Formats: sequence, structure tokens, C-alpha cells
Amino acid sequence: MVRDLVLKNRSYRRFYQDVAVERETLRELVDLARCSASGANRQPLKYFLSCTPERNAQVFSTLGWAGSLPDWPGPSEGERPSAYIIILGDTQISKNAGVDHGIAAQSILLGAVDRGLGGCMLASVRRDELRRLLGIPEQYEVLLVVALGKPKERVVLETLEPGGDVRYWRDDDQVHHVPKRRLDDIIVG
Ligand SMILES: Cc1cc2nc3c(=O)[nH]c(=O)nc-3n(C[C@H](O)[C@H](O)[C@H](O)COP(=O)(O)O)c2cc1C
Repeated sequence: MVRDLVLKNRSYRRFYQDVAVERETLRELVDLARCSASGANRQPLKYFLSCTPERNAQVFSTLGWAGSLPDWPGPSEGERPSAYIIILGDTQISKNAGVDHGIAAQSILLGAVDRGLGGCMLASVRRDELRRLLGIPEQYEVLLVVALGKPKERVVLETLEPGGDVRYWRDDDQVHHVPKRRLDDIIVG
């Protein structure tokens, strides 16, 4: 069911790093993005794949994790993503990718969950550094990084009361809690 997949598709930030994600799996996930909606069907998105320890370490070094958990520096060695899909905008096709990269990232993550994997979208990326480390040509704008792996954490949704705090939190058992607004609070008409 789509609902089950969407509910299971949380932002996971700790992984079994020793469980590899093959390049072929990443290609299959990009193929889901390829078949997704695109504004005016311009399809400006291109992708850079990472699934080797060396390249993963380079990508990881440019990422900002969990802004709502200031005391947590991000996943430690052994719990880091096994792979990344970097979503790029080809500026020779379109100066602006609109919302295409968000749609692509969601397709990728739903496909990952369907395969027993999981991940997290990251917009907090030191883009120039990532471009330099990976040798990504100027033609491509770095839009989003999707981290992927076998999740090692439990994430649960909580009810967010009106006026409540949107910040997610971790409890003493390292369970990650994510407050979500109530359905009746977001349908305005
Ligand atoms: C566009 C976008 C950018 C995001 N960037 C980051 C990021 O840079 N670092 C991070 O740890 N999480 C990032 N997230 C994940 C959000 O924090 C997460 O979606 C939110 O806390 C809700 O949790 P959920 O995805 O499990 O519903 C991003 C999510 C979106 C949609």
C-alpha cells in the first residue's frame, strides 16, 4: 500500500554501514526518478552516484546533519550511509529545476524503502566543496544529496499540537521522534 510505504519512508540518519548498496541499485532508483513528473517535461536533472568507501567519505565530509539536534554531529563511523545519489541540475537544459529535484528525491526514497533500504534528503551541503572533491563540472548545479543505506534507527511520528514545536528529538533509547501537524490543521478550505 502506498500509505505504508510513505509512513515507512522516514528520514533515516544512522545506517548499517557494512551493508553495501550496489551501483546497479542506485541506477534502478534513478530510473524511478527518471520516470517521475518534471515541469514542462524539461527533465533538467542529472545524477552522480557514490557507493565506494572512498567516494562516500568525500560526500559525507560536505554534509550537514539534523539541524534540530545541535549536540549530534551526524552519524559516526560504522553508522554512515552506504551510498549517495547526488541530484544535479543541468543548467544547459534549464536555469531552474523548479520542484523537480524534490519529486525525484521522493521517488528515489520510496524505491529505497520498497527495497528494505532507507535514507535522507540533504540540502545542507557545502556545494562548492562537493563539486571540487568529485570534479563535478560547473554546468551542473548541486541541488540535493540523497543519503542511502540500511537504516539502523527507529523513527516514529508524533502529533504536533497547534503552536507546538516542530523540532524532532531523540529519546534515551535513541528512538527518533518527528512531530507532524494534524490533518485538520493543514486543510484550510
Ligand atoms: C528539502 C529537504 C531538505 C532536507 N535537508 C536536510 C539536511 O540537510 N540534513 C538533514 O539531516 N535532514 C534534512 N532533511 C530531512 C528533514 O529534516 C526531515 O524530512 C524532517 O525532519 C521530517 O522527518 P521525516 O522525513 O521523517 O518526515 C531535509 C528534508 C527535505 C525535504
